[in-house]
Amino acid sequence: MKAILIDHWVKSLSDLSASTIPSPPCGTNKLRIRVTHAAITHVDLLYAQGRHQNNRRHVKPPFVLGTEFAGVVLCASRTSSFRPGTRVFGFGLGSFAEEICVDELQVKPVPQRWTNAEACAVGGSAAVAYGALGDGCGHVSAGQSVLVLGASGGLGVAAIQVAQALGATVVGVAGGSEKEAVVKSLGAKSVNYRHDKWQEKVLELTGGSGVDVIFDPIGAVEDGLKCLKYGGKILVIGFAAREGIMEKVSMNKVLLKGASVIGYRFGEQSRRNPAATSAIWESTMALISQNKIRPVVYKQVYGGLDSVPKALQDVDERKIWGRAVVSVSEEDSLNGTRGRATRL
Ligand SMILES: NC(=O)c1ccc[n+]([C@@H]2O[C@H](COP(=O)([O-])OP(=O)(O)OC[C@H]3O[C@@H](n4cnc5c(N)ncnc54)[C@H](OP(=O)(O)O)[C@@H]3O)[C@@H](O)[C@H]2O)c1
Repeated sequence: MKAILIDHWVKSLSDLSASTIPSPPCGTNKLRIRVTHAAITHVDLLYAQGRHQNNRRHVKPPFVLGTEFAGVVLCASRTSSFRPGTRVFGFGLGSFAEEICVDELQVKPVPQRWTNAEACAVGGSAAVAYGALGDGCGHVSAGQSVLVLGASGGLGVAAIQVAQALGATVVGVAGGSEKEAVVKSLGAKSVNYRHDKWQEKVLELTGGSGVDVIFDPIGAVEDGLKCLKYGGKILVIGFAAREGIMEKVSMNKVLLKGASVIGYRFGEQSRRNPAATSAIWESTMALISQNKIRPVVYKQVYGGLDSVPKALQDVDERKIWGRAVVSVSEEDSLNGTRGRATRL
């Protein structure tokens, strides 16, 4: 099959290319999936270059790049709840490939009203956002206010929608008018961080009090503290703006705000407590079925695995809002699957 194989860390994303490798081996309890779409996430940028914390331990060459996908089940065990031909979306290392093998827990059926491209754009992001904001961590409740940093990005658009579904009002921080428009289209208030005094604008929008909770996937805790309510929480999710250099926070500012700074790591939680992850997915799928999560697919069409390096570069250059999605094969559940779909 065709795939983007990382056999060594690349220095430049333009060094990536698709090659032909054997299809992945599949244990009897796994699903073999024909990938129709793969999402481009910030994690993929880091994984290609060995710059993610997981690259020290969990993810090392050789591996197939890509972490989120939608596709069609090719093979499933007789006891599986998924039938061959079912459209699914989910996460798993190796999605920049024509086929992927994953555990059943890593995929969900694509809602009837969504295309595979749309489901792929939601991928694992809504579950990560729910895990961080929901009962297991951020405990966001009705009537609270939530500030989402990196609000136009893949996790950002999911966090806006999850926070609203939990009953919060949301202010999203994004860079530029096109990205602000995305934030507003989801029903949140928006602030442009390219404006020097964006924290003052957040305070203005919250009647001077600041917000109860900050969702931070970019690494801006100290900036965020300026618009946090006394006793509020900052959820540390990622470091998209740090370029590998971690933020050093003046702890007196944490003390002065009586703030709770809480790290949340979906992958590690899944490794340590799979039952909690299953509960998060259940709640996330309930929000999806209630139409509270809308996919936000970036406007440019990226066709074929050969376009992955360009799509990654576009993410790196911050051209994207929502999720960039690469189409890998035809979406129709039977095309390309006919004659191959089997029960093991
Ligand atoms: N904790 C977890 O479980 C978990 C799970 C998945 C991902 N993550 C992490 O979450 C982060 C976001 O992932 P993603 O896939 O959502 O990324 P993404 O789609 O690329 O979005 C990143 C966002 O960061 C913003 N950004 C980048 N540089 C910035 C800067 N200098 N100042 C302000 N904003 C900046 C971008 O906004 P503009 O374009 O508007 O600047 C963009 O909206 C990554 O660090 C990833 O590793 C964490």
